[in-house]
Formats: sequence, C-alpha cells, structure tokens
Amino acid sequence: MELAELINKKHDEARQGEAFKASVTPLLHGKKFYIESYGCAMNFSDSEVVASILQENEFSATPDFEVADLILINTCSIREKAEQTIRKRLTEFRKIKRTRPGMLIGVLGCMAERLKAQLLEQEKLVDLVIGPDAYRSLPALIKEASGGQKGVNVLLSRDETYGDIAPVRLNSNGITAFVSITRGCNNMCSFCVVPFTRGRERSRSANSIIEEIRSLVEQGYKEITLLGQNVDSYHWVNETGNETVTFANLLEQAALVSTDLRVRFSTSHPKDITDDVLYTMAKYENICKCIHLPVQSGNTRVLQLMNRTYSREWYLAKVDRIREILPNCGLTSDMIAGFCTETEEEHQDTLSLMDYCGFDMSYMYFYSERPGTLAARRFKDDISLEDKKRRLQEIVDKQGELSTKSNLNDIGKTFKILIETRSKRDANDWTGRTSQNKITVFPKSNENQQPGDYVWVKIHDCTRATLLGTIVDHP
Ligand code: SAM
Ligand code: SF4
Ligand code: F3S
Repeated sequence: MELAELINKKHDEARQGEAFKASVTPLLHGKKFYIESYGCAMNFSDSEVVASILQENEFSATPDFEVADLILINTCSIREKAEQTIRKRLTEFRKIKRTRPGMLIGVLGCMAERLKAQLLEQEKLVDLVIGPDAYRSLPALIKEASGGQKGVNVLLSRDETYGDIAPVRLNSNGITAFVSITRGCNNMCSFCVVPFTRGRERSRSANSIIEEIRSLVEQGYKEITLLGQNVDSYHWVNETGNETVTFANLLEQAALVSTDLRVRFSTSHPKDITDDVLYTMAKYENICKCIHLPVQSGNTRVLQLMNRTYSREWYLAKVDRIREILPNCGLTSDMIAGFCTETEEEHQDTLSLMDYCGFDMSYMYFYSERPGTLAARRFKDDISLEDKKRRLQEIVDKQGELSTKSNLNDIGKTFKILIETRSKRDANDWTGRTSQNKITVFPKSNENQQPGDYVWVKIHDCTRATLLGTIVDHP
C-alpha cells in the first residue's frame, strides 16, 4: 500500500472511531458502572482496563451497586465452586434489576468465555456477555443492549494485549499495583480451563509495560507485580525484529525504573523459570525475593497425567537451584488434592515434597473437573469427594506446620518493610510485607510515617500467617 493511501486509511479509521465514540457517548454520559471481580489477579487487572474503557466513554465508577446503571461481574471458571458463587451473585443482581428496569447486567471474563451466550439465552441471567479479549467492544455492546438487543462478544484474539490502555486503578491503596505482561496460556495442563477461556499466550510490548511502570512511579506507587499465567515465557520482539526481550530482560528493565520501586511477579511455571531470572533477582535489591512456583502434585505419574511437563525430581532440582542462587528467597506453591486416579501413596508424595521444599505459603484445592479440559475428556474423576476433602485437609495441615515453622524462623531477624495500610485490628499499627511477601504488623513509631515509606522491622513474634515486630534503626 502507498504511504499516502496508508495515511488516508489510518485517518478514516480514526474518524470512524471518533464518530463511533461520539454516537456512543451521549447514551453513556453520566451513567454509573459498578464492577465486581472474582478469580486470579489477571481478572482484577482486567477490571482496571475495563474501567478505563468505560471512563473514556463517559461512564463513571461507583462502589455502590444499588445506584449503578450497569453492573459488571468479572468472572472465574477455574473450579465449579467459583462458578456457583458467581451464579448466586447474579441471581441477587437480577432481583435488583426487577426494581430498576433500565439497569444492565454484564458478565465479563472466563465464565463469559466458557458459557458464551448460554448465560443470556438459556439462563436469562444477564444482558451482556463479553469475553476477556473483547473489552474494547464494551461501549458498543452496552448501546446495543440498551436498545434491547443481545450484547455478546466472546471472540478470542491472538494479539490483543490492551497494551495501549492505561488502567484505572480500582480500590487502590496508591502503593501497590498489578501490571499485566502476558495474556492467555500455551500450556495445556490437563485439569485447567484457562487455555480455553483466555486463549493463546501473547506478550505485551516491553515499551508499553515500562511506560506504565514509569507512570505508576510518577503517581507515587512503590510496588508493582508483573502478571501473567506463566510470566517466565514472556517473549517480545520489537517492531523491527532486532530486539528480543525475555522475562529476565523485562525484570531488569522494571527494576531499573526506580531503585525505590519494589518489583514482584506471578506466576512462574517450574519448566520455564531460568537461571537468568534467578541471577537477575539476585542482582537487584528491589526485585522481591519471593517465587510462586506451583507444583500441583509431588508425584511424577500424577504430574504426567496433569501434563505439567516436569517430574518430582525436576521440580526438586529447581528448588535446590533457587536456594543456591537466592538463599533467602520465599517460596510459595499451589497444590491439587485428589486428581484423577491419584493413590494414597501418590498423595503422600505431595506431603513429602512439601516438607522438602518448606513452602512459606500455598494455595490448596481439591480437584474440580472442568468440562472440555483434557482431563475431563481423557480421565475418570474417580476420587470420592470425601477422599479429596480429607487429602486436601492433610495438605492444608502440612502447610500450616510449614508456615508456622518458616515464620518462627524469622523471629529475631530484621526486614525492610514497605508500609501499605493501617492494620484492621488497631489503627496505631501498620501492615506491610517483607521482600519474601510475608505480611508483617508493627506499631507506628512516629507521626510522620505514612503508607509508601520503607522501614526496618525486627520480628519478635508471629502467627501462622503474620509476622509481628517493632520498627528499628537501619541495621
Ligand atoms: N498459571 C498458574 C500455574 O500454572 O500454576 C496458575 C493457574 S490457576 C489460575 C491457579 C491454580 O488453580 C492452579 O495452579 C491450580 O492449582 C488450581 N486449579 C486449576 N484448575 C483446577 C481444577 N480443575 N481443580 C482444582 N484446582 C485447579
Ligand atoms: Fe492453567 Fe497450566 Fe496455563 Fe497455569 S500453566 S494457566 S495451570 S494451563
Ligand atoms: Fe479464573 Fe480465569 Fe483467572 S478461570 S483463575 S479468572 S484466568
């Protein structure tokens, strides 16, 4: 295409965009939206993109759904229970709609993607159904739904990253923020619905990520968490094809934005986290020393059925490597109890792996079969609910012991803490986190202190989930 032609095409597109926006905004002007998010941090981060798109279209956010013209619920499909919770909530919202007929209810996120028009047509629960890659079409779909049509868009994209959209921070403490770096997932863990609800993995441009981080620093934010289902497979090639940015490179660039900014990331897949990432973490004090490394099971046969692509031994070797390069690194995990055909001995392997790794914290679940996944198609969900729950309880108890042990081990040590908020229990206490991501509570030591300050705290006591300490001078 000739340059002039290309420019004209771009102008036409821009004009059409403007015309489209102009036709939508009077309808939305002054209206209020309420958004509620479920599921993982990616969903909460997406809600901030949605808020940005709506505010651009002259909607304003309200924390009170009773006065909202549009209620949005950003949903999760990861386990059956997550979907049940959302259905209950939708039924409550539906009742409100009966008293406020003009109001619209929209379902966003993974459940929208999984169930598609079913929520609109069969269950008649909502007015709008919008999948995770279709948020740009929200204003147009609201317009259609206001006119009585069905507002559905669940198309998944191979390149949508919302990289150009500056998220509107919702419920923000002004100190910590999420920054999405990848969308989707190319792994095919057999139990997992995410590849179906979020589509293929794509990496957001490194420039737009660093720009967003710079802007957060200018606004006074002190900690960012780089987000993706598998951050270690981040891979971005610039427009001219002469620069490739890996996750280790991106982490370094993020750390260099400001030495006063803490950088965290989640989630790491054990097969993809590299020595480069570990050495980059070691090199920069402001990259937090904590890795969330979900294992799912401690048994190689079960891991194979789960299609996790690593064995027990491989995982343990990775943990050894982390301990070698980052001796003070926090380590957390995810576990699934009672996956298809798991025997009692194989369950014991998960408990013994937890002992070896000494996780500081874990998210623990029992297996919930998800329609359409590889496991649902190939394996029988043959562990009774009773056994699943008992095994899960054993895992939870084991993690309780390990968390307590890890916290007791911190007594007498001094940590640099970023103050985040006042403690819920006592307004004279602050809460913040150590680099290892442990929540720490301590009394204020002077009136000038405020959230966003770094302080040194000596730990003198702990509970299973919290460290308790006192502010001390810089050691
Ligand atoms: N991408 C991350 C990973 O690979 O570890 C996290 C994915 S998922 C959002 C978070 C956790 O939910 C998983 O690590 C897994 O433990 C759990 N999970 C996923 N599917 C599940 C299922 N069908 N039943 C129970 N737990 C599940
Ligand atoms: Fe799901 Fe596996 Fe992807 Fe994590 S890595 S989102 S568990 S498919
Ligand atoms: Fe749930 Fe979707 Fe996240 S299924 S865990 S909200 S990617």
